This record gives sequence, C-alpha cells and structure tokens, in this order.
Amino acid sequence: MSSTRSVTITDNATGKSVECPVLEGEYGAPVIDIRTLYRELGMFTFDVGYGSTASCRSAITYLDGEEGILLHRGYPIEQLAEHSSFVEVCYLLVHGELPDAAQLADWEHALKMHGMTHEHLSRFYSGYRYDAHPMSVLTGVVGAVASYYHANTDIASEEDRMLTARRVIGKMPGLVAKIYRYASGLPFVYPDNGRSYVENFMYMMYSWPTEPYVANPVAVRALELLMILHADHEQNASTSTVRLAGSAESSPFACVAAGIATLWGKSHGGANEAVVQMLEEIGDVKNIRQFVDRAKDKDDPFRLMGFGHRVYKNYDPRAKIIRKACHDLLEEMHLNQPLFEIAMELERIALEDEYFIERKLYPNVDFYSGLIYQALNIPTAMFTCMFALARSAGWIAQWTELMRDPEFRIGRPRQLYVGAAQRDYVPLAER
Ligand code: CMC
Repeated sequence: MSSTRSVTITDNATGKSVECPVLEGEYGAPVIDIRTLYRELGMFTFDVGYGSTASCRSAITYLDGEEGILLHRGYPIEQLAEHSSFVEVCYLLVHGELPDAAQLADWEHALKMHGMTHEHLSRFYSGYRYDAHPMSVLTGVVGAVASYYHANTDIASEEDRMLTARRVIGKMPGLVAKIYRYASGLPFVYPDNGRSYVENFMYMMYSWPTEPYVANPVAVRALELLMILHADHEQNASTSTVRLAGSAESSPFACVAAGIATLWGKSHGGANEAVVQMLEEIGDVKNIRQFVDRAKDKDDPFRLMGFGHRVYKNYDPRAKIIRKACHDLLEEMHLNQPLFEIAMELERIALEDEYFIERKLYPNVDFYSGLIYQALNIPTAMFTCMFALARSAGWIAQWTELMRDPEFRIGRPRQLYVGAAQRDYVPLAER
C-alpha cells in the first residue's frame, strides 16, 4: 500500500532536497522510503540496531509493542494459542491462510513424510563432544542438512520452496531430539507417524527402547502452546539474519542455521536459559530485592533476564499466556516449583519499581517459558533449541516471502567509517 504523503529531506549545507515517499502499511508506523537518498544527496542513514528501519514489506506477522498486540496473518496470538495447533499455525505462516480440513490433513501428512533424515546425518552427531552446547550442535546439523539438498533445490521455483518449507518443519523435531539422545547416551529414535507433530517430538526425545511410550497429554498441550507462541515474531535478529542470508541466495537450510546461530545469543533466544539460571541464583524470595537493585545499578552489567524487549514497551502478550499456562501445568502435573514462586514474586516487585516502570520493562516471552521446559524435563541448555524448533516455521515462512518478493535484492547495509585516514604501509623493521 502507498500514499501520496511524502517527507522532504534537506541538506542544510547545500540546500539540496529530496522528496521521499511515505509508504503506509495495513497497521503500524508509516515508513519513509529513502531509497533515492544516496543518489540525490549522497548520504546514507544511520540507525545502529535498526530500531527505526523497516527492512522489508511483510504480510506474515504484525506486532504493536506499545499496545502489546501480536497478529499472525491477521489472527491474534491469543486466539491461535487457544484454538489452533502448531501444525496449523505453520501452515498459516507459510501459506497465508488457515487451511480447510483436507489441506490441514495433507499438510500434516507431508510434514510426517519429511520427518526422516539421511542415515549418514545421524553419524554427524558423534563428531561432537557429549557435552557440546546443544545450540552449537543444532547450528551444525541444520547446516549439514543443506548438503543433502543443495544440488537439487531450485530456490527460484515455488514448488521447491514449498518442498523446502515442508522439509525444514518436518525434520526439525528429529534433529533437535537427536541432540538430547546423543548427550544422554540413548539410541536415536525414528519418528512414529501415528503420533501428532508435538507428541512425536516428545516420543523421539523421551521414549525408552524397551518400553511403550505414552505421552502425558497435559505436557503435550503445554509444549504445543509454547511452540505456537514462538513460531514467528516479525523482523527480529534471527529472522533478519535468515533473510539476509537468503538474500544472498544461500541454501535455505544454511539460512535457517544462520538464524539458529543468532538465536543462541542471550539477548535473543538464549534468554530463556539465562532466566532459569538467574532464578536459581536468586534461590529464595528473600534475595529478590538484592537482584533487582543490581539490575538498576549502572555500574553493574547485570540485567534482569526475561525483562525488556526491543519492541514491546508493554506486557508481551505471549508472556501473559505463558504465565497462566505455566501455573496450570505445574498444578496439573502436581509439581512443586519453587522457581515459579520466585519468578512471580520477582515479576511483582519489578513491575512496582520506578526504574522498570519508567523504562517500560515488562516480562517477555522467555521469562516463563524456561519454567515450562524445566517441568517437561528438557535440560536447561536445550531451551533455546526448543525456541529454534518452533521458530523454524517463522524463519522458513519469512524466507519464502523474501524469495517471492518482486523487490528482492541482496541485503547490503552501509556504514559510517570512523577508522584511520589513508596512510602508507610501514615495513616491520621500521615500526
Ligand atoms: N534489566 C535491567 N535494565 C534493563 C533491562 C533489564 N532486563 N533491559 C533494559 N534495561 C534498561 C537499560 O539499561 C536501559 O536503561 P538506560 O535507559 O538507563 O540506559 C533501558 O532499559 C533501555 O534498554 P536498551 O538496552 O536500550 O533496550 P534494548 O531495546 O536495546 O534491549 C533487550 C532489549 C531485550 C536486549 C534488553 O531489554 C535485555 O537485555 N533484556 C534481558 C534479556 C532478555 O530477556 N532478552 C529476551 C528478549 S525477548 C526474546 C526474543 O524475542 O528473542
């Protein structure tokens, strides 16, 4: 969508101006199209962290950080969390519309048909130390999957792109589960296509070779909910990485591996792991005040993990849903969870504190997700793999959208050079 609105940028030194069109989307702040700025004024824009830059047009996810709204293809996250399944949300993200019953059945069947990986890939895991960080392994194995499809995937073909989406979403549960099995010294488990997507993942993680595996439906639903909530989140750091890698026409699996590497960071997907570590360190409700004080101290680099968000300046809508789910899960599974008590009290204290109120720092999606993963017996170091498992759906949907974009071109940010002026090389003996 476009409008007749424009913004004129004038260089006060030369008096030269450029009229930049303003583009309006369905929702959200309009954007100034500065693509002619360099040509007309010989200047770039400066926006460290891209806080004021729209990097693409996208029809997948909309979020309003001030109001705490999150929509996927127009559907509110609260409604998807309540009524949908992860598999259906994947379909929605990739195809743009909710499926009818036949489309959903076909999609689910197709994901199952792509659940296996080449047997050689299973041996790839043994190249890692038993205690390798799961995100390091996941980055490697997903990158390795690219080698099986590199020669026979035409990224310009819509048919191949849809096949790729099914492959990525279909294979991720097995790839993640194998990390856990390898680290635990357990044999790898093939998917059981009689089970749902989420239950199958739990089966591949937890089944014992000698025993029948019966999943706890409460646990399956809790995990499904978390996966729905993590499926996509607009142009965050990992998604932008996937798009940037995709813009170079790299293998889609390599693009997803690049997204996984980015997600690993504790400012991004690694926060769920950091939250549980922090809650364990706090250890007791009586120590909370001391940690809150540290977070406020400018001379202390410590931050309250799970608080704050680049875009949400209101309660993250996903955090609200997870908070309740976490409470219900612990109750239904009769788990005594002291960390949950600490988390709730920490949230209460921080939300009443002037420092957090002024800076609009609210709990984010990762504040409670780690507690659910912990209740599901997922090792702390694997929490971010769980995030990656769900987010692969968003990454591949965003990659597909990029590849279809008529304005497609390689991503190439510019810079403000502040290094040394040109100088002559000094031979080693003279330095
Ligand atoms: N604890 C204490 N102070 C904080 C926190 C925090 N968690 N987050 C931000 N601040 C302060 C920060 O010090 C700054 O204060 P001042 O204005 O006095 O300098 C102010 O709030 C603004 O912070 P910022 O660093 O400019 O905000 P940002 O948008 O660059 O950072 C963030 C966003 C998520 C990286 C940051 O809030 C943070 O480090 N949070 C903790 C890590 C975390 O939970 N990350 C998960 C993000 S959500 C999951 C995802 O989508 O990947």
